[in-house]
Amino acid sequence: MQVRISRKFAAATDIFAFELVHPDGAPLPAFSAGAHIDVTLPNGLVRQYSLCNDPLDTHRYVIAVLRDANSRGGSIAMHALEAGGLLEISEPKNHFPLHGEARHSLLLAGGIGVTPIMSMAETLSCAGASFEMHYCTRSAARTAFRDRLADARFAQSVHLYFDDAQDGGRLQLDALLARASRDTHLYVCGPSGFIAAAMEAAKAAGWDDANVHREFFAAAPAQGGAGAFQVKLSSTGRVIDVAPDVTVIAALAQAGVEVPTSCEQGVCGTCLTRVLSGEPDHRDVYLLDEEKSANDRFLPCCSRSKSPMLVLDL
Ligand code: FES
Repeated sequence: MQVRISRKFAAATDIFAFELVHPDGAPLPAFSAGAHIDVTLPNGLVRQYSLCNDPLDTHRYVIAVLRDANSRGGSIAMHALEAGGLLEISEPKNHFPLHGEARHSLLLAGGIGVTPIMSMAETLSCAGASFEMHYCTRSAARTAFRDRLADARFAQSVHLYFDDAQDGGRLQLDALLARASRDTHLYVCGPSGFIAAAMEAAKAAGWDDANVHREFFAAAPAQGGAGAFQVKLSSTGRVIDVAPDVTVIAALAQAGVEVPTSCEQGVCGTCLTRVLSGEPDHRDVYLLDEEKSANDRFLPCCSRSKSPMLVLDL
């Protein structure tokens, strides 16, 4: 679907926010907190951006984009867009939803990972649900939506932490997660190191996996550089060749085997597939290091193989 950029504004240093509306002013498809859209950029790249406005908004989507020094072209192309222009987007999809039964929710954001957390805070606040939001950034100037958070009806539930703070006001993750009650749900979004630290702290504090939810904010997984290999379908024994310039997902699709995908960048986890034997060459940012070293699952949209064959649970 096509949308118009009705507003572009600086949300923090190196971060622009974009307000997207229907070209005719019509309502947009509804979304829930944690949802993202796929944006097709003028250069043909497709990128996922979380919606960060209140899901009760019916006429607009708001996304925020950090200009990434290691960008492969996505964030730079986004920052070059101006208000008034048209953009091709998908309907909202949600791989990071809130869980309604939570007695309390702990929202943890690192950097630009705050975007889905913003809409979660809006939704929880509107529902009168118990929650707290902890948001870590490098500095005040790099903290997206500071003014919006200061003015929000849930401002008293928001805690900000800056890496450059002189007073040592860092987030004490271990203590925070250790004192949470067992019926609390944890939502984490941010860079992989931030997520890994939160996952580790949750594990050390004995959190139930079912109460821990995470989403990476972006990915620039390594591409190519690996030779040909084969994948074997455990259900039929069929062997499929994967050429060096073809993803496993594409090779499977050519052979008539469909695996659900969404981001196709190793971010969302939609294509997660069990590996029964062989050693995957993990290229995603979805799995944690510990999960990668287990070598029993991989993301075939971007990952490859270090062994001549991978046997897949397909
Ligand atoms: Fe998103 Fe593979 S489709 S990780």
